[in-house]
Amino acid sequence: MRIDDTYSRPLGNLRVSVTDRCNLRCQYCMPEEEYVWLPREEILHFEEIGALADVFMALGVDKIRLTGGEPLLRRDLPRLIRLLATKPRLRDLAITTNGVLLAEHAQALKEAGLRRVTVSLDTLRADRFAALTRRQTHAQVLEGIAAVTRAGFTETKLDTVVIRGVNDDELVDLIEFGKHAPAEVRFIEYMDVGGATRWSMEQVVSRTEVLEILESRYGRIEPVLEETTAPADRYRLPDGTVFGIIASTTAPFCATCDRSRLTADGVWYLCLYALRGTDLREPLRRGATREELAGLITGRWRQRADRGAEERLALRERAPLVQIARLKEDPHLEMHTRGG
Ligand code: GTP
Ligand code: 5AD
Ligand code: SF4
Repeated sequence: MRIDDTYSRPLGNLRVSVTDRCNLRCQYCMPEEEYVWLPREEILHFEEIGALADVFMALGVDKIRLTGGEPLLRRDLPRLIRLLATKPRLRDLAITTNGVLLAEHAQALKEAGLRRVTVSLDTLRADRFAALTRRQTHAQVLEGIAAVTRAGFTETKLDTVVIRGVNDDELVDLIEFGKHAPAEVRFIEYMDVGGATRWSMEQVVSRTEVLEILESRYGRIEPVLEETTAPADRYRLPDGTVFGIIASTTAPFCATCDRSRLTADGVWYLCLYALRGTDLREPLRRGATREELAGLITGRWRQRADRGAEERLALRERAPLVQIARLKEDPHLEMHTRGG
């Protein structure tokens, strides 16, 4: 089954946020002192996520990524993974985590059937990590990355949001770290999404700049030619090392975007930048049939015309997408609610 939106983009990739809570306070995502959390009773149970996943998979979704907040804060997460991993239509099941709790959970995640792990790693320096995240858990993240390899995971990725004056002098060190992890490092342009209330264009280190920095150290960099819907453009260093760049801010990939997101309380968003979503929890808890849910999802996807990052790029004056007061009124606008 394939359902296309108004730009012929299929419904293919679902990001499921399992909690809006996080154990870090990264300045590009959660810079405030206080947050309004989703009410506990509204958080979907694993069986409810499984039921919605079944509907999405029947409509063409074959990749699911668990996100947060920090997904490992959700109690008993391996149980959800076991529930999803057995679904025959699923080709890929991955997680995006900040790594703090990975060392204790990596083995159980592997045994539950998780296929891939992506860890956010913005710096190799403990003092910078503390300043960037307002927590002192850098050593745990590094232990977590080692534990992923030990548990037998392959195709691990390390995601680095590059911010001018913060970590833009660590690109080479991160590439070298990735070689040994082993993991594919991806440099992400700082995005003006909800939650990034301190964003400014001056702090964005563009793909072009990242390539210049790395070429001056490694020599000629070749693009890896491939057709995918993935956000990362991949490149190869002369020694064969492959890394990625996610240029959402200066070169958006909306034209091929097949992803949508489900928040922990069951609101479905068709774009990272969308201001409104569709509540799937209400019909689910009311007892809607699979067919009814499928009808609702299909109808919305067929009307999808979102290309949030491209619209942001077209603006002449760019400032953070949403102001703090508005985020407090509607936490669904936060990046940590809809999954990074
Ligand atoms: P794979 O390519 O399957 O490994 O997954 P991924 O790259 O989608 O996963 P990941 O969670 O690692 O995403 C990497 C980063 O890309 C995120 O942290 C965001 O910064 C950015 N990103 C993810 N989804 C979107 C999206 O829907 N739109 C835009 N513009 N950026 C996104
Ligand atoms: N810009 C770019 N990426 C972001 N993330 C969160 N906020 C931003 C932002 N403003 C992404 C990072 C992090 C993941 C959890 O969410 O990639 O690794
Ligand atoms: Fe997809 Fe919206 Fe991100 Fe563009 S901005 S890539 S349409 S989620």
